[in-house]
Amino acid sequence: MKLFLDSANIKEIEELGSSEYVYGLTTNPTFFYEEGVKSTEEFLSILKDIMPDKEIQLEAMGSVDEILKIARDYVDSPPGTSCEHNIVSKVPFNEEGLEAVSILSKESIKTNVHLVYSVNQAVLAARSGATYVCPLMGRFDDSGQNSSELLGDIKTTFDNYNIETEILAASVRHPDHVKQALLLGVDAITIPYKVFKLMMDHPLTERGTRAFENHTVGQK
Ligand code: E4P
Repeated sequence: MKLFLDSANIKEIEELGSSEYVYGLTTNPTFFYEEGVKSTEEFLSILKDIMPDKEIQLEAMGSVDEILKIARDYVDSPPGTSCEHNIVSKVPFNEEGLEAVSILSKESIKTNVHLVYSVNQAVLAARSGATYVCPLMGRFDDSGQNSSELLGDIKTTFDNYNIETEILAASVRHPDHVKQALLLGVDAITIPYKVFKLMMDHPLTERGTRAFENHTVGQK
């Protein structure tokens, strides 16, 4: 099971990116816009020092030809050059995206088909050769539907047919989303910085630590 950091904020990435429990990083164009990231090259050159050998997921969107070019460039000459990142192209779910994913999978180029909101979309992405399918929990719940049910249905379907495509739960808004995804047995979860922080907390842990600190005696 893989835990990704979902961020394009350099401070957050500096703090958590090299942690053993963080498998890699997922980003999206909105994060880049909000964080003022000027170019993928610049972004990856910073990551090279922080999380040099981890998996990085970057957007590849547009026409089939545009997706192919972006995804091949990530693999052939990663922006930020000479980095060891394992780059996965995030392709939005649509017909062009699926066509590009099927070509890329034959070239062993990894993809994450995201913006997946149904079992049927997940199966089409998987059968097209996606490495990951990415249902967005928070956004699904915001639309008045149940993201745990969606994840569970995709998981059951993939298990029924021995589909190897990994399920990556995204749009995580709180620690309970993480727990639900874990209990459903998804393969990967991408988690924002603030949710990682909340996952660390438990009032009984804090209380117990304070009590032990008060009772600590000298080591000699
Ligand atoms: C991940 O890949 C998604 O782009 C991200 O988790 C979306 O999160 P949001 O719905 O909180 O914007």
